[in-house]
Amino acid sequence: MTKTKNAILVIGACGQLGSELTLELRKIYGDDHVVAADIQYPKQAELRESGPFEIVDVLTPQHLTDLTSRYKFKQIYHLAAILSATGEKNPKFAWRLNMDGLFNVLDFALEHKVEKVYWPSSIAVFGPGTPRQNTPQDTIMDPNTVYGISKQAGERWCEYYFQKYGLDVRSLRYPGLIGYKALPGGGTTDYAVDIYHQALAKGTYKCFLSEHTRLPMMYMPDALKATLDLMHAPAELVKVRSSYNLAAMSFTPQEIATSIQRHYPDFSITYEPDARQQIADSWPQSINDSAARQDWGWKPTYDLDAMTDDMLLHLKRINN
Ligand code: SER
Repeated sequence: MTKTKNAILVIGACGQLGSELTLELRKIYGDDHVVAADIQYPKQAELRESGPFEIVDVLTPQHLTDLTSRYKFKQIYHLAAILSATGEKNPKFAWRLNMDGLFNVLDFALEHKVEKVYWPSSIAVFGPGTPRQNTPQDTIMDPNTVYGISKQAGERWCEYYFQKYGLDVRSLRYPGLIGYKALPGGGTTDYAVDIYHQALAKGTYKCFLSEHTRLPMMYMPDALKATLDLMHAPAELVKVRSSYNLAAMSFTPQEIATSIQRHYPDFSITYEPDARQQIADSWPQSINDSAARQDWGWKPTYDLDAMTDDMLLHLKRINN
């Protein structure tokens, strides 16, 4: 059997970020060279049909080893994780999946001489003691969700593998991500995706966060661009080896509703905060990403209204 050389592995390829990032990588590196991997087959036809797919559970290292008879990987994007809200329902399992999954991937990358690894961190690494406005790159980090604790620990381990073993691991602290192609799974910022779907389906939305809860957010095209820009930057420019702060916009549920009302004046929103409110209240309201801007030239494109215009345009097309 011939091996596909210079392959790229995306673990968690069926998730909100993975399903879009896999397609972008296929455009750049060729469909056959980008292997989508997840614990279940993709529901999205474009993802399923455009290139190879493999079942990989990151808690089973043998799944990764089995792939080496068919592929020689030069890059891995390890995106599989349990997010903030779901993590609180089963903290021990979230810790195991997020940490053991990371170790399995980092050790596999070392053993098989993978050139670069990407691993996402999050604004969830910050906590109640962190300055909430313009949160600096280096500051107090006292996360109080198991997701945030696992991301903070993961950042330390990524830097450790870089310093001790020379593994080229790169990472971004994503804000809440918003896209029209796939739904997020179990995060505190998920409302900012659902609200667009409900605006079109029902003209009304019941928000699980209170009206003035301001959180950092980013439209998916910007998140994809940031990820690829970081991965394509020369290694010497990547000075932060834990994870880079990354920002685009910050808004409240009330402000996103107002942005939607520019298109649908009758759209209405009500507020019924649940357990996710406490998580949101422990996170920053805005992020200082000057290190990413200086080191590898990061600059976002979309603000709230530009995102709303694009989201509604695409969702309307998909629904018709
Ligand atoms: N969007 C994620 C969450 O809400 C944060 O990284 O859990």
